[in-house]
Amino acid sequence: MSLQLRVIGAIAALLILSLLAGGLMLSIHAHSLVALEVRTAFAGARQSVSDTLRSDVEHTVTLRQVVASFQGQRHVRAALVNETGKVIVQSQIGTLAEPAPDWFVRAMTPPTLTARIPIALPQYPCVVVLTSDPRSEIAEVWGHVRDAFVIMLLFCLATMIVVGLAAAAASRFLRRFRAALMAIGGGDYDARMDEGGPPEFADLARGFNHMARQLSDFSRSNRQLYAQVQSTQEEERAGIARDLHDEVGPYLFAIQVDAKAVAKTGTPEATRLSQSIREAVGHIQEHVRAILRQLRPVTQLEFGLEPAIADIAAFWSRRHPAVHFALDIALPAHLPQAHQETAYRIVQESVSNALRHGAPTRIAIAVHGGPDGLTVTVEDDGGGVRASGSPDSSPVTSPVTSPVTSLGQAGIAGMRERIGALKGQFEVQDANGRGVRVRATLPLAPEREPA
Ligand SMILES: Nc1ncnc2c1ncn2[C@@H]1O[C@H](COP(=O)(O)OP(=O)(O)O)[C@@H](O)[C@H]1O
Ligand SMILES: [Mg+2]
Repeated sequence: MSLQLRVIGAIAALLILSLLAGGLMLSIHAHSLVALEVRTAFAGARQSVSDTLRSDVEHTVTLRQVVASFQGQRHVRAALVNETGKVIVQSQIGTLAEPAPDWFVRAMTPPTLTARIPIALPQYPCVVVLTSDPRSEIAEVWGHVRDAFVIMLLFCLATMIVVGLAAAAASRFLRRFRAALMAIGGGDYDARMDEGGPPEFADLARGFNHMARQLSDFSRSNRQLYAQVQSTQEEERAGIARDLHDEVGPYLFAIQVDAKAVAKTGTPEATRLSQSIREAVGHIQEHVRAILRQLRPVTQLEFGLEPAIADIAAFWSRRHPAVHFALDIALPAHLPQAHQETAYRIVQESVSNALRHGAPTRIAIAVHGGPDGLTVTVEDDGGGVRASGSPDSSPVTSPVTSPVTSLGQAGIAGMRERIGALKGQFEVQDANGRGVRVRATLPLAPEREPA
């Protein structure tokens, strides 16, 4: 049950209890009030009839007048009764403006009081009988009790409405708070809360916004730092590539020229050795070219991402002819350089991982531009992460925000960092020993970094 319902339920139960207790107290008080009023009125009536009968009564007309004087009285009825018990004349109590309901009359009625007052006239053997009648008093008390109860009821309803509104406001705030926390958890550090409302909520919202701003700053400086690391790394790679090209390349060429010259010396042994030296140098040149390609993806991307990825597939296909490469590439018209480089590196590392660790027969590479951004998927049907025998080969589903050490090695960590720098999502899924699926989503048109 929600907190809001619990609070409202508990307060409603308390109010109903207090309403019942209040009603009970009112009833007890009203009951004793009715009894007291009726007793007092009855005693007064009895006294006045006794006094009248003792002094003034001379004939029946006067007796009738005594009885008639009770006509319309509120609490006592009088009757003149002869010696055979026959009622000669009787008064009626006043008509009730608004009688109380039967159940209230039953609950409030005190014991009936009766008095028989004999008449001191020997020739007239009658008695005056007085009887208490509480109905008029009960009707009056009913009016008060009902009004008091209605006021208590209105108070309870008003309290419930106020409590309900307060609980609804609190639960609205909690819902917004939860949504904002979920947004932060999902990596949206721009989530902010409205700082208005009651001071307690405003304090919480301010605290939340402060935390979100800090996280947003950390994330920005992280991205900047990573971009610096990346460019340093790229520069370093470019330097190594330059050295390889400029230092090793000429020497390899020189060896080939020398080998040709040696062949010209004429001996068959020299010709054979020269040929094998030139073949070995050819191999080394091819490897150096491959290494240069790996080191300088920017050069590879000169003709676009699609041919560059096709190049990776062709490169590995030559070395692993048994592995089938399936390419499915549909790129958006304008793809930023950073996205192209990241996509290239993801494909490069994932394909190399699949071949190094998974022994697959098929590798599917898909790169698509869609509403979510650029999606890069590399799927192999090799042995999966567990079968690769890595000491840290737990099955992984690693969102980009999780610690980078889940596989302990640099390749996956590097991919995750590159993708994080573009605010993307990343997961590596092991299909229970039937291969690995690497999937990255890079949001396109990322917001500009504030200066
Ligand atoms: N496609 C794959 N198939 C099987 N195992 C994989 C695959 N990709 C990654 N792995 C496992 O994850 C580990 C971490 O990969 P990575 O971070 O690229 O480091 P490295 O390739 O240098 O070992 C690998 O050592 C391997 O055990
Ligand atoms: Mg690797």
